[in-house]
Order: sequence, then structure tokens, then C-alpha cells
Amino acid sequence: MNGRVCIVTGANAGIGFSTALQLAELGAHVIMACRSQSKAEQAATQIRAQITKKSPARKLEDIKLDVMVVDLLSFASVKRFAAEFRARKLPLHVLINNAGIMMGSADGWVTPDGNNSVLQVNTLSHFLLTLSLLDIMQATPGEARIINLASLAHRFGWIDFANINGKGCTGCLCYSQSKLANIMLTMELARRLEAQPENRVTVHAVDPDSIYSSFYDNLPTPMWACFRPFLWLMKPIEIGAQTSVFVASSVNVYGLTGVHWFRCAQTRASSACYDRQQCKDLWDLSLSLVHWNENRPAGVSLKLHL
Ligand SMILES: NC(=O)c1ccc[n+]([C@@H]2O[C@H](COP(=O)([O-])OP(=O)(O)OC[C@H]3O[C@@H](n4cnc5c(N)ncnc54)[C@H](OP(=O)(O)O)[C@@H]3O)[C@@H](O)[C@H]2O)c1
Repeated sequence: MNGRVCIVTGANAGIGFSTALQLAELGAHVIMACRSQSKAEQAATQIRAQITKKSPARKLEDIKLDVMVVDLLSFASVKRFAAEFRARKLPLHVLINNAGIMMGSADGWVTPDGNNSVLQVNTLSHFLLTLSLLDIMQATPGEARIINLASLAHRFGWIDFANINGKGCTGCLCYSQSKLANIMLTMELARRLEAQPENRVTVHAVDPDSIYSSFYDNLPTPMWACFRPFLWLMKPIEIGAQTSVFVASSVNVYGLTGVHWFRCAQTRASSACYDRQQCKDLWDLSLSLVHWNENRPAGVSLKLHL
């Protein structure tokens, strides 16, 4: 991964932390896209320390880690992040849309942009981030890969098109819907990119497995009680990062797109993810929710030409 630039959202903790660590170990230039500068800098210090401890010959200055701030609860913050990244004039080989929340601070909590917080953090802000950076990925020499974090939970969700930001959408249902949406938007973006001449950007959905992380910290007591008996089944964050790192770096992934991955293997997602009409409808709805105009001169045009 030497010389390859990778953005990882939510890289200060959990699976994102381990993903950033493993990519930096492989020599990538990792941009840690986090909402707290201080937490991200602490994480970057830990990553440097772990790499030099494991490989004493590795010089500190050769570990390329940058911290950039983005708060996925705010579209303005996402746009600011994209503008700041653009100003650095770097290529972008890998974008890992990793950050996620299971619960809003309260069910149905609405962001300043008027969306359900779980939907905005997990899906809409990452969708906006992807669209905002896509032209940079398209201009990057070689293949560029977009990785969207999915979850087993997508199998229990459905897209409530009439009420996607739904009132009455409780934590688990919102989460399942957001993760299903991530895979459906992955499939739709893959198809739109494939329809473009000489496309070199591929899109993937990754289920990281059941991983013990701070993800479960904010669960209400009854839900925590449900998860508790299964904690021993959960795997460490290093395992959670493995599939993202594999998809980001492996030559075996070359040329593949629109794939759902689990334990470093291609796996079929739920049937809604392959329903072209639903994926297209979700794409159109998401465009309107993030206020993206496909026709504006500077916008990335990914109209379907199939
Ligand atoms: N753990 C599992 O079993 C599991 C299973 C399936 C899928 N996943 C998916 O894997 C991904 C990573 O999960 P994890 O287990 O590593 O969770 P985690 O330990 O809770 O880490 C989540 C990361 O997302 C960041 N984040 C949360 N809200 C944010 C916001 N508004 N703006 C920017 N960053 C924000 C967090 O930052 P702060 O530290 O600042 O909060 C943290 O860095 C998620 O997409 C999750 O849905 C996890």
C-alpha cells in the first residue's frame, strides 16, 4: 500500500482504529477522518507506537498518518472536510466509510439537517462524502476503491421509502435500515460507475463480523442485557478490520465491484440489495436528502445509462 492514500472515517476507535493501524503498517498514507481532533491525535500516537514496537526498524517519519476533522451528524462538516481534503491536492485510492452508531442519543433524534441521526451518520453523510470525493478518486491513477461498512443487521431491515427518517423508527430498526441502505447504495453506485467509459473506481460493502467494540456502550439496559450473553462470541477489533483491509489492499479484489464481503469472501446480501428498482429509488431519495444536484456543472454526474 506504499504511496496509496486512504481515508478511514471513525478511525479513532474500534474497527476503524484497527483498519487505520493495519493500513499504516502496510505503508499506506492514512487520513483519519474523525469528529474529535484530540481523540484522533491520541489514536494516531497509539498507532505509531504500536507499529514501531512491532517493527523497530520502521522510522516514525515514514508512518504517514494525518488527522482531519469531520462530524457526520452535519452535512456542512462533511462538505468542509471534502473541501479541505481537495485543497491538499492528494490522490485518493481508498475511501473507507467506516464510522457508525447504533443508537442516536435518543430514538428519533433529529440532526440539524433534519434527518434521523442514525441514518445521517451511517448512510447519508457517507453518501455525501463519497459523491464529494468521487471526482478525485476518478482522477487517481490506477484502481480506486470505496468501502462501505455493512452489518448482519441489514438482513432484518427494510427501506421505509415513505418515511425513511421515520418517526417511530426505534434504534435497532433505524440501524438495520441504515446498513441495508449502505449496501443498496453500494450496488447502485457500482452499476452507475460501471456504465461510465474507462471507469476505474470500484465499490464494496463489508460486513466486519460481530466485533466487541465501544459500539455497544450506549445501548439501553434492556438491549445490553440481550447482547451480554453473546459477548463471548464477539471477536476483537483486529478481526473486524481484516475484511476492510483485505478489500482495500488485495490484488484478488482487482476489477471486482458491487460486492458484499464477509470474512474476506464474497457473500450474498439480502435480496433487496439486488432489486435494481429499489436501489435506484433509494439513490434518488438519498440525493434529495443530501441536497445533491446531479445536473449542476461541478457535480459528479452518475446518471444511469443502462
Ligand atoms: N462492532 C460490531 O459488532 C459491528 C458489526 C457490524 C457492523 N459494524 C459496523 O462497523 C463500523 C465500526 O463500528 P465499531 O464497532 O468500530 O464502532 P465504535 O467502536 O463505536 O466506533 C465508531 C466510530 O465511529 C465514530 N463516529 C460516531 N459518530 C460519529 C460522527 N458523528 N462523526 C464522525 N465519526 C463518528 C466514532 O467516533 P467517536 O469515538 O468520536 O464516537 C468511532 O470512531 C460501524 O459502521 C458499524 O455499524 C460493527
